[in-house]
Amino acid sequence: MTSKTVAELLSQEVTLQEVTIKGWVRTFRAKRFIALNDGSTINNIQCVVDFENFDEATLKRITTGAAIHVTGDLVESQGKGQSVEIVVKTLEILGDSDPETYPIQPKKHSFEFLRENAHLRTRTNTFSAVMRLRSSLSFAVHKYFNENGFNYMHTPIITGSDAEGAGEMFKVTNLDAKNPPLNEDGSVNYKEDFFGKETNLTVSGQLEAETYAMSLGKVYTFGPTFRAENSNTSRHLAEFWMIEPEVAFMDLAGNMDLAEDFMKSVLSYVLEHNKEDLEFLDKRLADEDKTKPQAERSAMGLVEKIKFVVDNNFKRVSYTEAIDILKSSKPNKKKKFNYIIEEWGADLQSEHERFLVEKHFKCPVILFDYPANIKAFYMRLNEDGKTVRAMDILFPGIGEMVGGSQREERLDVLKEKMKALDIDEEELWWYLDLRKYGSAVHSGFGLGFERLVMFATGMSNIRDVIPFPRTPQNAEF
Ligand code: 4AD
Ligand code: MG
Repeated sequence: MTSKTVAELLSQEVTLQEVTIKGWVRTFRAKRFIALNDGSTINNIQCVVDFENFDEATLKRITTGAAIHVTGDLVESQGKGQSVEIVVKTLEILGDSDPETYPIQPKKHSFEFLRENAHLRTRTNTFSAVMRLRSSLSFAVHKYFNENGFNYMHTPIITGSDAEGAGEMFKVTNLDAKNPPLNEDGSVNYKEDFFGKETNLTVSGQLEAETYAMSLGKVYTFGPTFRAENSNTSRHLAEFWMIEPEVAFMDLAGNMDLAEDFMKSVLSYVLEHNKEDLEFLDKRLADEDKTKPQAERSAMGLVEKIKFVVDNNFKRVSYTEAIDILKSSKPNKKKKFNYIIEEWGADLQSEHERFLVEKHFKCPVILFDYPANIKAFYMRLNEDGKTVRAMDILFPGIGEMVGGSQREERLDVLKEKMKALDIDEEELWWYLDLRKYGSAVHSGFGLGFERLVMFATGMSNIRDVIPFPRTPQNAEF
């Protein structure tokens, strides 16, 4: 008799009479009903024990959190709330769980408390649902690219170039911090370091991905990314996962089409494959909403919100149009924004992005053609000489989900830009080579995976959608 999962048993495709199952006790009620969960689904299976057949000592060990192994008959349930249940014949305690000290009691815990117990928080319905969705979304990411002819590329995690400019970097070194080798001028001599040069953890795989786009055509990376920004917000992590497709011969319009199609596809995938988890999270969000003042409640439920994104076109708006909208907006005129938009060229803060998606357009927005001087050096300069073919995709409740662009493919223009920004040509010799040999239009974007998981689960803090979050002053586990 092989072990089945709770998901398999509840799917009722199982016609077995006698079943065996292992899992963790969620609750044990009236010395009779065990709610057992094994992580395969949000649902528990009810195991009915006839306490007269078991000794008191064993029954005492059936506590919340204990791991048990049950065999018994799968029968139609007598009670409400489940279709089938197991009438227990044998019960073995695999691992005890002391009810006095087990942190995950069968009651509501705050997310802050559960973050401190991140090693056990997936024993709760909310976090198991979130992490099953995270897993499902990552599978959908690979499925989408695989079905659309992309090659999966592994870009280096330790990088020797710090020119991307996407954020502050974490240094990688094995020099003795107390006594590093010094140059004559007193600076650290990295020639003696492990790689013979300064190295850092990557802030993006883009520049390396461009090299493969210009040979394999369509590629993507999906890996860990590190930024040492000291932004302690509910949307920033020091270690996060980024998805970065890069495609040869594709312009900015194609890039927008790809991003939109990709996001709709992975969200459709979870709508279809994670129904029960989504329904649970939908209800959780609705309950949480009820505790908020009317003005802060969301107009749509979770599933409704995801469907809305899948079924409607993203709004495409140029930076210039966005500035006009913002300039004449109420919060700008009434000086409600922290940063008042006064003129073209201003960098958009998250309060402005949120106004555009949540108040003005009420749907995902693709902003494009930003001023060159607020965007990265590698973005394709437009004919107007002052804007670049950049795009940011903004989502309601999340803010910036995607950042991307068409890349500057003209060697002379790129060199000029690097010179103006004081970026060392020698360091990026290989990047410039792409513009010397068979250069062509190409584009790509980066999507912050955790922000996508936030949107798909309705969780409002990014620390709650990654197993073990790394943030300033926090690297527990
Ligand atoms: O806009 P960013 O900085 O773009 C790049 O790194 C480009 N090289 C991408 C490319 O064109 N291939 O970052 C891309 C996305 C952001 O839109 C955001 O969703 C996410 O990465 N992101 C973060 N997510 C969590 N924590 C952080 N600290 C993040 N910083 C960026
Ligand atoms: Mg960005």
